[in-house]
Amino acid sequence: MRKVIFVSVLGLAACMPGLGPVAHMQGAADFNELCAPCHGRDAKGDGPLADGLAHRPADLTGLAARHGGTFPTAYVMSKIWGYEKGAAPSDIMPKFAPLMESKTVLVDTGDGVETPTPERLVEIANYLAGVQTK
Ligand code: HEC
Repeated sequence: MRKVIFVSVLGLAACMPGLGPVAHMQGAADFNELCAPCHGRDAKGDGPLADGLAHRPADLTGLAARHGGTFPTAYVMSKIWGYEKGAAPSDIMPKFAPLMESKTVLVDTGDGVETPTPERLVEIANYLAGVQTK
């Protein structure tokens, strides 16, 4: 089952449904709780834990700029998924299971097929898409 969801996460295209203000707040709350300790509240990579890490946390406001001007939704979600799998970037990564275990929403990946994807994973990616510097 997990593998199936992972494949669908990778298949997500830029064409995401608007999730509305409530979903956006959930994404912001999850970011502040789970990501800001390293990436910083402004997502620029300067959270309180940043200095103690072997690798500098990325500036997440520059994701679109680093990916040819388009926010890489599928990449971001697969990165978070990778954390959950313990793949990167270090063994001190917290567990993001609550994001993966949230109820799934149907997301049109751009090919007209609606794919079940964990809702909070979609929301956190949407939140980050909204803080990109152009
Ligand atoms: C324990 C510290 C830590 C936490 C917590 C953390 N990250 Fe990271 N993150 C890093 C580090 C260090 C890197 C850079 C090394 C790498 O890319 O693996 C990184 C890289 C990334 C990248 C890739 C950036 C790029 O330009 O390729 C994304 C996307 C990302 N993090 C998103 C998140 C999100 C979303 C969360 C919260 C769900 C999160 N991170 C939580 C430390 C953290």
